[in-house]
Amino acid sequence: MCGIVGYIGTQAATEILLAGLEKLEYRGYDSAGIATVWEGDVHCVRAKGKLHNLRSKLEQIETPSQIGIGHTRWATHGKPEEYNAHPHMDTAMRIAVVQNGIIENYRDLREELKQKGHQFRSETDTEVIPHLIAELLKTSASSLLEAVQQSVNHLEGAFAIAVISADYPDELIVVRQQAPLVIGFGQGEFFCASDTPAIVSHTRAVLALENGEIARLTPLGVEVYNFAGDRLKKQPRMLNLNPMMVEKQGFKHFMLKEIYEQPGVVRASLEAYFSSDGNACQATHSPINLGLPTEFYADIEQIQIVACGTSWHAALVGKYLLEQLAGISTQVHYASEYRYAPSPLIPNTLIIGVTQSGETADTLAALAMEKERRQGKENKYQARLLGITNRPESSLGHMVPHIINTLAGIEIGVAATKTFIAQLMAFYALALEFAAHRQTISPDKIAEIIEGLRHVPKEIEANLETQEKLTEHLAHEFAETQDFIFLGRGINFPIALEGALKLKEISYIHAEGYPAGEMKHGPIALLDAKVPVVAIAVPGTVYEKVISNAQEAKARDSRLIGVTPVKDGEAAEIFNDLLPVSSVDELLSPILTVVPLQLLAYHIAARRGLDVDQPRNLAKSVTVE
Ligand code: F6R
Repeated sequence: MCGIVGYIGTQAATEILLAGLEKLEYRGYDSAGIATVWEGDVHCVRAKGKLHNLRSKLEQIETPSQIGIGHTRWATHGKPEEYNAHPHMDTAMRIAVVQNGIIENYRDLREELKQKGHQFRSETDTEVIPHLIAELLKTSASSLLEAVQQSVNHLEGAFAIAVISADYPDELIVVRQQAPLVIGFGQGEFFCASDTPAIVSHTRAVLALENGEIARLTPLGVEVYNFAGDRLKKQPRMLNLNPMMVEKQGFKHFMLKEIYEQPGVVRASLEAYFSSDGNACQATHSPINLGLPTEFYADIEQIQIVACGTSWHAALVGKYLLEQLAGISTQVHYASEYRYAPSPLIPNTLIIGVTQSGETADTLAALAMEKERRQGKENKYQARLLGITNRPESSLGHMVPHIINTLAGIEIGVAATKTFIAQLMAFYALALEFAAHRQTISPDKIAEIIEGLRHVPKEIEANLETQEKLTEHLAHEFAETQDFIFLGRGINFPIALEGALKLKEISYIHAEGYPAGEMKHGPIALLDAKVPVVAIAVPGTVYEKVISNAQEAKARDSRLIGVTPVKDGEAAEIFNDLLPVSSVDELLSPILTVVPLQLLAYHIAARRGLDVDQPRNLAKSVTVE
């Protein structure tokens, strides 16, 4: 996590850096800082807390410098205090460094450098870097670039770094090693950032550095090297990202805007993944087109999915679809668990990594572990890897041979909403494509499901206005509630988990998602009049069961909120409050039932006056283990 930015060119750097950091604040907001080079010195200003604190400090300081680096922090090593805020400097305060990632061997390096007389001022892992560069400049390196090159060969871990020095006022050196870093090419000016939104308002010509690369940015251009010091030939590409996509466009929060963008996301996915008339394409004999080669679908005996958080919930819906539609045994793992306790090797296993950011360290590490442990084994044990991501240009995109690009557009709110729906759409398409190849369901059934999906966007649209009013009203009543339970079964069980996660992460209210039938095996003891229960009850295989489980909660005095398409007296009799959704096939219902839960969490958090888009302790892209 953490966000880094850098600028070198002809304009005043400070405002450009601050504007860039604003766009990266979703990556962390424990502290922020910038460093510029001006009149022969490094000027570093840092502030604890959100970016506006740094902005206020900078109002009193004039810095016309045309080179600088900036950082917004998600604390890993050391408290979120100003003395731990980046940029960090060497003892003589000639070199400033910002870093995103973790330097795993920082303790040893710190001890060595201390013994050589370097004075440390923070508790961070990052601070070893400016001291190391200073040491190497003193002893063995003849330029800043060389010192950074030598330094990175001493560092262990995953990191992206930006470096400036008072003694090299026309150079900005950046490094990528398993943490994202992009370079933007302007006219006589160059930018770097952890993510493209920070630079897209200046230029769309970007170069994403690869692992093990270093770049030297000067007002004259960009040179890229590998860690051994060899010069590499690299060209920027044009980014397809509209700066408007990273604005709120009249909504109070990004999260609300992103909830409202969901019908469009489903439409974009339908257009990309399914043929327009539902008929089979002649070349592939299938109405689904994910762009994966035919052999990709052959001989798969089982699927292992690794993911974290909301992506893990999407994967659970994916498991349901892959097993029920395509008949493929599928396991879903928390990536952070799987990497240290993988399943036994089974031949012809497809491994899917689901990560909207494409940068989640645990998911990438789990995939890397799978790749490694299968190397050198017989063909049938070789890793068959697929990534499902909203950022195909991410580290995941570089790591796996096949990608399903989810089509949510950039998501800024830290709580995932539209990217979740986009992941669901990818799983519908994947499961149907497998079903078509394996002939586990008939072409007519496949066409019927696709036709059902086509109605979903307008149904979400039809629901949104009513659901907003109702959730706003409920938020008023539940703003002080301390515990919530979410119940679902079958394909809607993961939606109960997702509803609980949304509420927890943005409203800080304790919430649990449970398979409705599991309540009576323990959690029912939690229930009383103070604990509302949200039950997702969609007619289909488990409707009656969910209703019985909900009744059990009501009998314990819990206030019952039903997410259901059932409108008649029956629903009003069972539930104290209704969050109605349109009536669709149970199989497609998660795309509809999740929306009122997102709105409920949003309105409760907004009502509590919380920072919906940047909840405490969280970051959008979790690039540390
Ligand atoms: C929840 C949320 C997180 C992410 C998780 C994985 O709203 O955003 O739980 O889902 O950190 O992130 P990705 O999908 O980028 O791997």
